[in-house]
Amino acid sequence: MKSAYFLVAFALLAIASSFASAYDPSPLQDFCVAINDTKTGVFVNGKFCKDPKLVVASDFFLSGFDKPGNTSNAVGSAVTQAFVEQLLGLNTLGVSLVRIDFAPNGLNPPHTHPRGTEILVVQEGTLFVGFVSSNQDGNRLFTKVLNKGDVFVFPSGLIHFQLNIEETPAVAFSGLSSQNPGTITIANSVFGSNSPINPDVLTKAFMLDKNVIKYLQSHF
Ligand SMILES: *[C@@H]1O[C@H](CO)[C@@H](O)[C@H](O)[C@H]1NC(C)=O
Ligand SMILES: *[C@@H]1O[C@H](CO)[C@@H](O)[C@H](O)[C@H]1NC(C)=O
Repeated sequence: MKSAYFLVAFALLAIASSFASAYDPSPLQDFCVAINDTKTGVFVNGKFCKDPKLVVASDFFLSGFDKPGNTSNAVGSAVTQAFVEQLLGLNTLGVSLVRIDFAPNGLNPPHTHPRGTEILVVQEGTLFVGFVSSNQDGNRLFTKVLNKGDVFVFPSGLIHFQLNIEETPAVAFSGLSSQNPGTITIANSVFGSNSPINPDVLTKAFMLDKNVIKYLQSHF
């Protein structure tokens, strides 16, 4: 009887882990430095591995994270990425890094990473940060003011933002739990999709006048 329970528990665990596809698969070798080439037109869940014998230290190296991004844009922030696209050695390893620069009062607007948890540390400045939990958890808002050296975690997939609340520039660095966490900026995806979402859909969804929706769509 006990072993039957064990088998059921084991089967449930196996099913649960097969659903945990929001995370990168574990590597099956020391490393799998990506070949930055899709000429073959074959797609896998990640990139093809370079022959390990041909791998060199520079495959694991990226420079430039000392340089601020260009924050001269509508929101006043810039994200510099070290995803697998920029750092081929990250392939299959389930981590990545970004540098986020903020102009005075700059905003990294509400967005989600569909494939990654984000852990952020403030290097300079003061940020008001937050995330919202899912519908099932009551869409609760969690916020904090972060100063230099403070760390905050944004759980995988949840909508989050960072606002520079000072009149001076700010900079933060974030680690993400995927080689390719993806980014969905809510306003851009909803109001700036290519092609546009039918305004009737957005009028109902946001409970706004259709003209407001059309105005928003014209701005993204
Ligand atoms: C920053 O971006 C703005 C807007 O795209 C551009 O006009 C400006 O030349 C850029 N500055 C630098 C230093 O690249
Ligand atoms: C890989 O290819 C992409 C797309 O062609 C390019 O933007 C990127 O800079 C390349 N990365 C490296 C590390 O060569």
